[in-house]
Amino acid sequence: MKILITGKNGQLGQQLQQDAPKGVELVALGREDLDISDRAAVFSALDEHRPDVVINAAAYTAVDKAESEVDCAYSINATGPENLAVACKEFGARLIHVSTDFVFDGSKSSPYTVEDAIRPLGVYGGSKAAGEVAVQAILPEAVIVRTAWVYAAHGSNFVNTMLRLMNERDQLGVVADQIGTPTWTGTLARALYSLAANDCAQGIYHCTDAGAASWYDFAVAIYEEGKASGLIPADKEVSIDPITTADYPTPASRPPYSVLEKRVEVNGKGIKLHHWRQVLRQVLQSKAN
Ligand SMILES: NC(=O)c1ccc[n+]([C@@H]2O[C@H](COP(=O)([O-])OP(=O)(O)OC[C@H]3O[C@@H](n4cnc5c(N)ncnc54)[C@H](OP(=O)(O)O)[C@@H]3O)[C@@H](O)[C@H]2O)c1
Repeated sequence: MKILITGKNGQLGQQLQQDAPKGVELVALGREDLDISDRAAVFSALDEHRPDVVINAAAYTAVDKAESEVDCAYSINATGPENLAVACKEFGARLIHVSTDFVFDGSKSSPYTVEDAIRPLGVYGGSKAAGEVAVQAILPEAVIVRTAWVYAAHGSNFVNTMLRLMNERDQLGVVADQIGTPTWTGTLARALYSLAANDCAQGIYHCTDAGAASWYDFAVAIYEEGKASGLIPADKEVSIDPITTADYPTPASRPPYSVLEKRVEVNGKGIKLHHWRQVLRQVLQSKAN
């Protein structure tokens, strides 16, 4: 099976390259090789490589910056997947597109199902929602995988920012009234390859690690697991205090609750999802070794 990955330099793009299953021929393209907002370039890449499956890991992910870069966010998150869907249809490739919990407004207090109506709050969520709608309209058999609170062992993300700050400071305030689910890129890569291997997969799936947490809970867990793994010195004391969203204003509104009901299952067969804290422990332990 030949799989073409877009956004190869991103958190997910790098994990997909590391975790490619045996028997998969991977073509990994970064923005410098393929700008997904350029339809002619997308057509030419699919024509050249003729993949069986395209996994779109490219996205504009700067949630706050998107509020002032609306056109840029839409050209990457809406026009990009639209271009990929049109080209996949033309060249007979399957499309697996990655989306976000931020397509929801967070007004629920129980996990969002794949049937729930989307209602994004900000430009980033709006642009990702427009991408989903375009993909479904052009290629109804496409797979859309919504995920949330993504982190990789390396690179710029909440986990690595917290580890750095916890090594530098002795006090941190972290938002405690936004609830979601931390998700390791390795979990997501496993789910995406499993869906790629199953021709029957189509429609919307939700994939995060298991469980739920606030950013505050997540920070406390990073502190405890960071100490246990040696990434934070055992004698380094940091006071982590819960704060509210109102205490930490940001340009973009975020959903207060965006836990997704997981469904990574095709014909009754699925992948096992582990609790986010257990996954975090394993990621930090292997990062420390
Ligand atoms: N990160 C999260 O917390 C989170 C949460 C929910 C859902 N998601 C979704 O998960 C997916 C993967 O996210 P991620 O965390 O891996 O994102 P990421 O680390 O920001 O990576 C995105 C990659 O896309 C590339 N890119 C941007 N514009 C492009 C274009 N026009 N053409 C081709 N490539 C382009 C970026 O390149 P440059 O480096 O050159 O900009 C970057 O390498 C995305 O669909 C995202 O919306 C992420």
